[in-house]
Amino acid sequence: MKLLEVQNLKMYYQTSQGYVKAVDDISFQVEKGETVGLVGESGCGKTSVAISILRLLPSNGRILGGRILFKGEDLLEKEEAKMRKLRWQSISIIFQAAMNALNPVYRVGEQIAEAIRVHQALGRREVKERVRELYQLVGMDPCRGRDYPHQYSGGMKQRAIIAMALACNPELVIADEPTTALDVIVQDQIMEELSKLQRQLGMAMIYISHDISILAETCNRMGIMYAGKLIEYGETASLFREPLHPYTQSLLASYPNLKGEKRKLSSIQGEPPGLIHPPPGCRFHPRCSRKKTICEKEEPGYRKIEDNHWAACHLLS
Ligand SMILES: Nc1ncnc2c1ncn2[C@@H]1O[C@H](COP(=O)(O)OP(=O)(O)O)[C@@H](O)[C@H]1O
Ligand SMILES: [Mg+2]
Repeated sequence: MKLLEVQNLKMYYQTSQGYVKAVDDISFQVEKGETVGLVGESGCGKTSVAISILRLLPSNGRILGGRILFKGEDLLEKEEAKMRKLRWQSISIIFQAAMNALNPVYRVGEQIAEAIRVHQALGRREVKERVRELYQLVGMDPCRGRDYPHQYSGGMKQRAIIAMALACNPELVIADEPTTALDVIVQDQIMEELSKLQRQLGMAMIYISHDISILAETCNRMGIMYAGKLIEYGETASLFREPLHPYTQSLLASYPNLKGEKRKLSSIQGEPPGLIHPPPGCRFHPRCSRKKTICEKEEPGYRKIEDNHWAACHLLS
């Protein structure tokens, strides 16, 4: 059975100017223990997908359609109390720049202990032991648990946040730009650490990033998001060998040397569109150098190229 199946998910934000169509009919799956990447420029709806899965929407967020099956059960139909139990225990999330969310007035180890106590009925000694274990797991000296957040570097704070996300042995971890706020060297260390933990603990992960090169070595499969749509999905190897969508092609062209320096070369002209009145037809057409007349009028359907690789683009038909 699939661990997670997102089917035709639609999530809009209500605003005084109209609905922001942040997640518009998106489907993908995550198998047990696998790592799936979600990539796209800022504002394409990646975080919106993540918070929809956990049902952690802001008050103006509305799920208007679709299903989110976790081990066959629809999360959208669960009562809030059941959902609360599931968060952290079965599915946890590492938010972008979450390290800034550590409370400055409490010792870091105490904050991790609190996260454990809230979700698991363990005795004092067991909690303490679990905190030690988690420190070791994320590559930190357990003694540092006595320190306050200001005594940690950015990378260490992020490791502490990762430790918290792993506290209850979740089956799925969603990491939303887990390293974006860190410098490049620490980014690499944290990504390696996360991959190692993922292999060691066997949990599934959804990795979210605007930087496709960061995910190249980490993810089995990858989905490319553009303007609230999933425009391409495939095995990472297949996607890098033969990117189908012009948007994916430009994302890859921006990073010429995936193993070397992460330098942005020819970034794509313009910006993703606002999502209250997204462009008709293919949402990418205003920025696409190969657009045809049909692209401005008709939304492209998905075309399957290989078994596990498909894209939505009129050029493929
Ligand atoms: N609370 C909100 N109210 C209205 N619009 C929002 C809200 N949160 C995000 N958005 C909009 O939804 C779109 C998708 O945002 P987001 O999911 O954060 O994208 P990403 O994570 O890819 O950067 C953007 O256009 C953003 O401005
Ligand atoms: Mg985001």
